[in-house]
Amino acid sequence: MAIRVSISNPAPVVIADEQLRHIDAREALLDAAFGPERFEKTSERLREGRLPADGLALVATAGERLVGTVRLWNVTLGPSRPSLLLGPLAVDGTLRAAGIGGQLMRAALGRARDEGHVSVILVGDEPYYSRFGFGAAKMDKLWMPGPLDRARFLGLELVPGALDGARGLVSPTGVEAPRWRDVELPGAWRIAA
Ligand SMILES: CC(C)(COP(=O)(O)OP(=O)(O)OC[C@H]1O[C@@H](n2cnc3c(N)ncnc32)[C@H](O)[C@@H]1OP(=O)(O)O)[C@@H](O)C(=O)NCCC(=O)NCCS
Repeated sequence: MAIRVSISNPAPVVIADEQLRHIDAREALLDAAFGPERFEKTSERLREGRLPADGLALVATAGERLVGTVRLWNVTLGPSRPSLLLGPLAVDGTLRAAGIGGQLMRAALGRARDEGHVSVILVGDEPYYSRFGFGAAKMDKLWMPGPLDRARFLGLELVPGALDGARGLVSPTGVEAPRWRDVELPGAWRIAA
């Protein structure tokens, strides 16, 4: 999949699957957007040691430059309700408000729907994510594995009613990142963040 986005940047922005070669630039972009405390987030407890959901790690590039990233992760809401956790989403600080974040979100959510996923949750700014349909309704009986600002705990139904009656702890269900003798391989560790 490749979606072209028109912005003032001379190189067109393309949304595509994240590749291993994007890891270093993606790490730098996330460090710049969130700082080192990004690893302290409660959402990270659902991502660490795992791989992103199949086909749901996307990047925005402009020529050779990585300018945006989004990933989704397999989780379960309570014991038996499969869902996806979205994040992190970030766009290069010099290219914000040009529509790249929106293109990443729409591409990721479209893919998730096409893959048969029924809902997506995230922890983020409601004023931003509400434009994609996310809201706090139906999230009040769900818990994250750590501190949680409930005003930022949002869900989206890809299938109507998918979050009806959702309750319990959100837990990771994604494929574990490769390990060698109980040590996560460095590349894999950086993939799973
Ligand atoms: C949030 C982020 C991904 C948006 O990407 P983007 O490419 O700038 O977004 P878009 O161009 O698609 O949308 C821009 C619009 O979103 C708004 N917006 C951006 N961040 C916002 C926020 N945190 N809260 C509310 N609105 C926000 C802008 O004001 C702009 O509004 P407008 O359409 O009325 O002009 C980007 O600002 C970013 O990387 N921020 C730092 C990391 C971050 O906060 N990630 C999200 C975690 S909550």
